[in-house]
Amino acid sequence: MRVIYNSLGRECISAIAEIPHDFLFILCDSQVYNLHKEGALKDILSMLHPTHLQVFEASERSKSIDSATDLWEWLIAEGATRKSLLVNIGGGVVTDLGGYVASCYMRGIKTINIPTTLLAMVDASTGGKTGVNHQGIKNIIGVFYMPEEVIIDTCFLSTQAIPDLLSGYAEVIKHALLGGMESWKKCCMTDPLALTGEEWKDIVAENVIFKESIVAADFKESGLRKILNLGHTFGHAIESLSHYKQLAPLKHGEAVAIGMIIELYLTSSLLGTSTKTLYQLVQICRENFSPYAYNCKDYDSIIGYMTHDKKNAGNKISFIGLAQPGETKAIEIEDKEILKKGLDFYRETFGG
Ligand code: GLY
Repeated sequence: MRVIYNSLGRECISAIAEIPHDFLFILCDSQVYNLHKEGALKDILSMLHPTHLQVFEASERSKSIDSATDLWEWLIAEGATRKSLLVNIGGGVVTDLGGYVASCYMRGIKTINIPTTLLAMVDASTGGKTGVNHQGIKNIIGVFYMPEEVIIDTCFLSTQAIPDLLSGYAEVIKHALLGGMESWKKCCMTDPLALTGEEWKDIVAENVIFKESIVAADFKESGLRKILNLGHTFGHAIESLSHYKQLAPLKHGEAVAIGMIIELYLTSSLLGTSTKTLYQLVQICRENFSPYAYNCKDYDSIIGYMTHDKKNAGNKISFIGLAQPGETKAIEIEDKEILKKGLDFYRETFGG
């Protein structure tokens, strides 16, 4: 893994040269391609046969099995072999989809991820989770499949739209909560919109090191890695609801921020732990995210989405609670009324 600033071309050339392969293929997000083809991506694109580039319009909708099929057909048509290398350039949709495509093509070809959004830099592109959405359920089809390399050039953050940057920042907040009191205190003092390029590079590097340390201990998520799902049980469900309703679909990190508020609230109400961190989190979220409006008629749908969560066992909804920064607790709830209290809390303190 490399975290760099403004030297993508040089790093890419050396990373690609170090991985034995016959043909190089690139899957690239269309917006990133248009913004950076003459800049940060110029060197890597110049290494490529033109038909070995797939410019992809990425969205949660296009992170689908149909898109994966299109990409497999492209690789077959272009003669990709088991020794070919696929480079995924873009946000989490591109790295999840491209990783999944690579994992199945000829039972697995090598990949490099070049994440271009904050969310993909600090979370999606590292750790080897790949997959697609299906029947409105996020990441329901997928495999664990490690990229050979992740090359992170934080220069891409300067062209990321602020709401997208802040969406990625929710995963930084999550890591700070998981990391312990020092990292949480630092997070409470940080204004993400005031950070310089060099400061971003340090923050991204710290976050990737934190995530990699957890993935190294538990790649297949049988234990420790589950803590990285903080905020994601409620978050994924509310995100799925927002996509189903189509009015104002939530970005992933915006949904995770809501999920973290609800999951911290439920932890403190079930275990009787301090609410100090919860209210600090609410404050940080107020500063960085807009409220999201759902109502009590949506509760059964949200709980319905949660029942598909991969972390559940039996009829219970399982999620990661947080007693205090750095101290997670596995929580299981069967009583829907308790889950609904969590949904009420968000609406009362923050929701639109
Ligand atoms: N996004 C959580 C994980 O990679 O485990």
